[in-house]
Amino acid sequence: MATTIEELEARRAAAKLGGGAKRIEAQHAKGRLTARERLSVLLDEGSFEEYDMFVEHNCADFGMEGQKFPGDGVVTGSGTINGRLVYVFAQDFTVFGGSLSEPHAQKICKVMDMAMKVGAPVIGLNDSGGARIQEGVASLAGYAEVFQRNVLASGVVPQLSLIMGPCAGGAVYSPAMTDFIFMVKDSSYMFVTGPDVVKTVTNEVVTQEELGGAVTHTTKSGVADVAFENDIDALLATRDFFDFLPLSNRHDLPERPCHDPWDRTEDSLDTLIPASAATPYDMHELIRKVVDEGDFFELQPAHAANIIVGFGRIEGRTVGIVANQPMVLAGVLDINSSKKAGRFVRFCDAFDIPIVTFVDVPGFLPGVAQEHNGIIKNGAKLLFAYAEATVPKITVITRKAYGGAYDVMASKHLRGDLNYAWPSAEIAVMGAKGAVEIIFRRDIGDPDKIAARTAEYEARFANPFVAASKGFIDEVIMPHSTRRRIALGLRKLRDKQLENPWKKHDNIPL
Ligand code: HXC
Repeated sequence: MATTIEELEARRAAAKLGGGAKRIEAQHAKGRLTARERLSVLLDEGSFEEYDMFVEHNCADFGMEGQKFPGDGVVTGSGTINGRLVYVFAQDFTVFGGSLSEPHAQKICKVMDMAMKVGAPVIGLNDSGGARIQEGVASLAGYAEVFQRNVLASGVVPQLSLIMGPCAGGAVYSPAMTDFIFMVKDSSYMFVTGPDVVKTVTNEVVTQEELGGAVTHTTKSGVADVAFENDIDALLATRDFFDFLPLSNRHDLPERPCHDPWDRTEDSLDTLIPASAATPYDMHELIRKVVDEGDFFELQPAHAANIIVGFGRIEGRTVGIVANQPMVLAGVLDINSSKKAGRFVRFCDAFDIPIVTFVDVPGFLPGVAQEHNGIIKNGAKLLFAYAEATVPKITVITRKAYGGAYDVMASKHLRGDLNYAWPSAEIAVMGAKGAVEIIFRRDIGDPDKIAARTAEYEARFANPFVAASKGFIDEVIMPHSTRRRIALGLRKLRDKQLENPWKKHDNIPL
């Protein structure tokens, strides 16, 4: 018996070494943690239970039969984050560059299947050169098995991807189908093909960082949500982020004790809106003053910053926040902001997270580039997402709600449950100047007449009362009471029941 225990210990120790001390050193030299070190930061101390530690590849080509590493380049299992269950896999770059073999894929699939059975999120720590090239089609098959599970798990359990090293080829498509992607600056990359292939095929010269680094994907492409300074920051932030998420679509929202009074008034909000309608203000201030203890986890802060999305809590329960940001492009809706917010709204709806929407939007962005790149279809994504959402929806219009964007931003007509407006709200087809220049075009040469018409239009429409008189706004509220109103509303909507007609699935304009 003693020998067997010793043998187990020896085998475990060998497995924990991954690709060996030299490769671990190389990983550290790049400022990266190993797979096991990452899991120890992510999970509660002592909570990790590993599976499949002794799985090996079965490839006999290209001299592979002589190179076997227990675990085969991925550490899998389950653990807890602040006491709540999570399934995890962490690719080990020290073993064949974290590349995916058939057994490596089977290990990932096993934890995904278990997560689906019990209802728990899956977090993948990705650090992989893609399909294991020596294996050929077997590794491609392995990827497809993972992809299929990503799709079936979508909307059932939250899926998070951390990109913590170079991720190439198939290694980017599984994360792309998960709900959220976090990256590490100057250390993680995502591309379908790397700079060398790009140079050969298109003759473009580009660095890994420019092509698919954390900054590129969190600003330009919008593929990833947040970029962190290093592995530790990314992992600790993931722990905080995890606390906002329900375990699955059949679990209730997580609830944490709340010491922030639900009816806290914020007098400073009464003066948040500047005197001039053309002057911007920071919508973050409103969000932080409304949510519990000012705690707001923003997603995609550097991409399409004209709309803000993220999670906060009201009375200890998670809410999804969507807000136009007047500081960036006057808060206009364009292609990127519509896609960003549309996907977020759909996540919230899938997991029964109520949505609070703050509106200050001058409309959709005009322009040839927007039209040619499909603002119609892309703007429709956000419209579609809000319209199909059946979760509690509370909307507060702080200033502008113009045109189609008024309709889109969780209006009463898209089944908004509680639609509030501040006294500063302006709900109209468009801004006064634009409106007057269209309906009084013949007077354009006469500045006095135009000024008088503009003043007339403003007096008639630059307020919340026309919409309120029609019941499109449930109540014009004092800005300082916004948190209290939202908290009360969410209490009342807690048992909301609303179902869409039966269908196999909808056909959102992709
Ligand atoms: C097998 C791989 C590998 C792979 C890396 N390695 N990628 N082994 N299959 N896909 C091995 C290397 O041979 C090396 O082994 C070790 O991992 C570390 O790799 P390095 O190149 O030394 O590291 P680095 O310089 O940091 O570069 C990392 C990298 C590069 C950018 C990921 O290795 C790379 O470009 N790999 C290939 C990427 C790729 O083209 N993948 C596409 C596969 S096709 P030794 O023994 O020397 O330490 C695919 C299609 C799926 O994924 C499609 C599904 C839709």
